[in-house]
Amino acid sequence: MSQILYQTYADIDTIQGNFTGKDIVSIDQVGVEDLKQLFQVARCMKQQVLHHEPSTLLAGYVVSLLFFEPSSRTFGSFASAVKRLGGQTIDIQNPETVTSTRKGETFEDTIRTFEAYSDAIVLRHPMAGAARIAAATSTIPIINAGDGNNEHPTQTFLDLFTLYENFGRLENLTGLLVGDLLNSRTIHSLLRGLSLFENNTVYLLSPRQLQLSRDDYVYFRGRGLNIIEISSEREIPQHCDFWYWTRIQKERLASLEVYQEIAQSTFVVTPQLLRDYARRDMILMDPLPRVGTIDPAVDNDERAVYLKAQIRNGLYVRMALLALLMGKM
Ligand code: NCD
Repeated sequence: MSQILYQTYADIDTIQGNFTGKDIVSIDQVGVEDLKQLFQVARCMKQQVLHHEPSTLLAGYVVSLLFFEPSSRTFGSFASAVKRLGGQTIDIQNPETVTSTRKGETFEDTIRTFEAYSDAIVLRHPMAGAARIAAATSTIPIINAGDGNNEHPTQTFLDLFTLYENFGRLENLTGLLVGDLLNSRTIHSLLRGLSLFENNTVYLLSPRQLQLSRDDYVYFRGRGLNIIEISSEREIPQHCDFWYWTRIQKERLASLEVYQEIAQSTFVVTPQLLRDYARRDMILMDPLPRVGTIDPAVDNDERAVYLKAQIRNGLYVRMALLALLMGKM
């Protein structure tokens, strides 16, 4: 399997008002109207979950969850989403040890195998471009649940949903994005998502070695996003609508020594930082896991949505996405 690096996805179908049967590889496949449709269905799913209404939307459907990297929320929410819609899952959390990958089977053959057993595959993989290769290999929908340091589109669906439900808009927003901007796929997809809307501004704060790549910087500015890089907490503007904190992607760094060196200069949200720089009506987000990102003393602050709405929204949005991809909405 050769690695594919890219910034555009010319070979992947865009949604353009019709999710049925499509792959979800990148945020670039959706437009503003597609997101609105997804969010509308997600709101219905939320009501269904809150009222414990049984659903048979995916009865008779099987979804394979193939996770070549660890996961709590993405795996758990997809499994819950399928089951809450009346479908079933094949759960494989360590394919490299429990499938024939271990015997030397190619990635493509593994995908073809699960294609034969299921109606969609949710795939997490350490290699950038893996979801795209799987999409080219299989005829059933492939949902990218994170491919290396590249993208994590369904995380951005839930992040944008969280912002939309809170602010009632996805344009004219100002955010602070902090952490491993070089390697975080949630950041890369979020930047793509925010740049779909007018007049969004992001302040970027990261350890020097983990700055957004210069290619991405130029690329996202070219897409109309206002990007302002800052180098210390003292430069955080007090008018941000949201903060989005991310961990250092230890597993994507060259060595433990490099991680330990960088870990000296990471940024942590504390009650004091919120007091000094955060608006009363902003929200504090983190895709999680939080590893040195947010002091637990902040958890009970009403602005902290990472352990509450943000996680729950992942369930509603993934239920909506599955129902749409299977042509059930
Ligand atoms: C993220 C991921 O896997 O990219 N986790 C998630 O899906 N919520 C973020 C991370 O691991 O840092």
